[in-house]
Amino acid sequence: MKKILAFGLASLLIFTSCKPAKNDTETKIDALLSRMTLEEKIGQMNQSSSYGSIEDMRMMIKKGEVGSILNEIDPDRINALQHVAVEESRLGIPLLIARDVIHGFKTIFPIPLGQAATFDPFVVEKSARIAAIEASSVGIRWTFAPMIDIARDPRWGRIAEGCGEDPYLTSVMGAAMVKGFQGDSMNLPTSIAACAKHFVGYGAVEGGRDYNSTFIPEHLLRNVYLPPFEAAVKAGVATFMTSFNDNNGVPSTGNSFILKEVLRKEWHFDGFVVSDWNSVGEMVNHGFAADYKDAARIAANAGVDMEMVSATYMKYLPELVKEGKVKEAVINDAVRNILRIKYRLGLFDHPYVDVNRKSIMYTQEHLECAKRISEESVILLKDDKHVLPLKSSVHTIAIVGPMADAPYEQMGTWAFDGDSAHTVTPLEAIREVYGNQVKVLYEPGLAYSRDKNLQGIVKAVTVASQADVILAFVGEEAILSGEAHCLADLNLQGAQSQLIAALAKTGKPVVTIVMAGRPLTIGKEVDESAAVLYSFHPGTMGGPAIADLLFGKAVPSGKTPVTFPKMVGQIPIYYAHHRIGRPATRNETLIDRIPLYAGQTSLGCTSFYMDAGFDPLFPFGYGLSYTTFKFSNIKLSATQLKKGDMLTVTFDLKNTGSYGGTEVAQLYVQDKVGSVTRPVKELKRFKRVNLLPGEKKTVVFELPVSELAFYNMNEEKMVEPGDFGLWVADDSQNGKELPFKVKF
Ligand code: GLC
Repeated sequence: MKKILAFGLASLLIFTSCKPAKNDTETKIDALLSRMTLEEKIGQMNQSSSYGSIEDMRMMIKKGEVGSILNEIDPDRINALQHVAVEESRLGIPLLIARDVIHGFKTIFPIPLGQAATFDPFVVEKSARIAAIEASSVGIRWTFAPMIDIARDPRWGRIAEGCGEDPYLTSVMGAAMVKGFQGDSMNLPTSIAACAKHFVGYGAVEGGRDYNSTFIPEHLLRNVYLPPFEAAVKAGVATFMTSFNDNNGVPSTGNSFILKEVLRKEWHFDGFVVSDWNSVGEMVNHGFAADYKDAARIAANAGVDMEMVSATYMKYLPELVKEGKVKEAVINDAVRNILRIKYRLGLFDHPYVDVNRKSIMYTQEHLECAKRISEESVILLKDDKHVLPLKSSVHTIAIVGPMADAPYEQMGTWAFDGDSAHTVTPLEAIREVYGNQVKVLYEPGLAYSRDKNLQGIVKAVTVASQADVILAFVGEEAILSGEAHCLADLNLQGAQSQLIAALAKTGKPVVTIVMAGRPLTIGKEVDESAAVLYSFHPGTMGGPAIADLLFGKAVPSGKTPVTFPKMVGQIPIYYAHHRIGRPATRNETLIDRIPLYAGQTSLGCTSFYMDAGFDPLFPFGYGLSYTTFKFSNIKLSATQLKKGDMLTVTFDLKNTGSYGGTEVAQLYVQDKVGSVTRPVKELKRFKRVNLLPGEKKTVVFELPVSELAFYNMNEEKMVEPGDFGLWVADDSQNGKELPFKVKF
């Protein structure tokens, strides 16, 4: 008997000692949860917008009915509301204050699409860090960023907010933003919780029309749309936000497959999930919920921990729990997730913001970082006559166009708190920095990007005719991209195209600088311009950045994070398209050269547009410099690899021109044969390489064979043996293919 008892005691000891001890935070959460009423628990799951009356808000907080507030940015009001939560409510649980700090708080950096164009995760992380420092200084401790929706349709206005079309680039940039926002430790006063959004597939809305349905098969979801979110989890992201769209008929806000199966079971995410604005309630509009009570039931059971503003949780969860339609265990899990992030942020220890802290908005350091990232974000699309950088022989320049001096528009979409009074425009920067070396003439020609009034163009042409070089600033007002701002036509708005054409007719070289929230179909303007720079709304310091690039103090290094279509009819168009049975040969006969009475099959049968061909205007990863670079001596560590191997790719990169510059070396791979069709190429590595004129560096990419894995039709992620192709190049279309094999 004694032996049995001893054995039982021993195994109990082993069991308890093997069971991981609850860490301090989990113990605190359990203790607090055990003291909470059901109503108080549900209060934590409720996020309110501060747009209402502050008195009503105080009452709700005091009753424990609010867990988070968004859109309050006044530090005194934030402290006052926090005081009610911490000192006057029964349990003193601090509020989590949230705001859309998407690409800067006060100092505004380029829109995320522009940040992606830098292919520089270091500077992107730095800009997110600065955004967190500025936002946290007023009491904001949670931002709804990074937006990491893969977008391959520039008709969709929200392409501006993400990092473009490629899963690898978006994964790297999204992780950098998470680290920048959350800092070295989330409980530091300048750290803010990041939010991976919008989970998931939002960028695939049918027709590029916002909030529309998406139809993404699971293995495409797993191979293209999920990877950036998994990368954000690996980077430690604190929260997720569900997306407005339904995928294959299931709204994300009610989708337990993505919220439980993938996010919790596969990725072991332990933060919390917030709905998007009213997306719980909108499941009634989707026809997926019968009424708001049903919507609350569906969202809570699917795994949405916190509801943004639609308040169906507050209203219906108590009765749903009493009716047994939502188990209290579901509520407890949601509240645990929320409390866990509040503890990690240190809110229980430091709930208040120091209102006496010296303002750190727009400091020199912040503005310098903003200028650097803006410089790196600008893409040189054309300069075949080497008009740029502007030469000393240029004595008079004419600055023309509605975007030359548009401080508000230059900040781009989702720049809620940026102050356009701090924006430095290209006109201001050129006058200030270069006005002593060139004569600067200025005539906008058009008052704003949509302006159709042709009167101003005559004046602009008259002024431009007096210059040696014309700088034409065109593009999009900020309102023309971002949420709900979709376009069916991507040509330049208003009379901007007529303006460029009129300027080109002067015979003077036209340098066109586009500031926009998306790629635009600017093929005609590119043909009419001697040079083209493209800037995805560059933010506060866009002017000084563009000025230094124009005059050669800086050299363009940006690369296209999205494919530029020739015509909107080519969309969706992206480099990593799948292999097909009848690929374009790029030698097709286009519409103006088709002979009369051509026979049905006389043109051949391949996949292209008769009026646009197959190729885009500019491919993914494309961007020029004032200098030239040469890739050579590309070597693979092996041409036969097996599971667990590392493929090491070394190559030389030389600056063969006369300017110092930066090339973004890119590594692409193609899986030649798969159990499902595979993309023609996939970006697997990239690196910015700075080189002085004549300088050569040897660069190394390391690629584990495991990163060749993909999800097959059975949703198994695996590397399939066989032949592969590899390219090291300066964009997604160039380079020489090098073969290698994977053998098991
Ligand atoms: C918006 C957006 C989301 C944003 C949220 C709060 O509708 O979809 O990206 O974070 O509401 O402003």
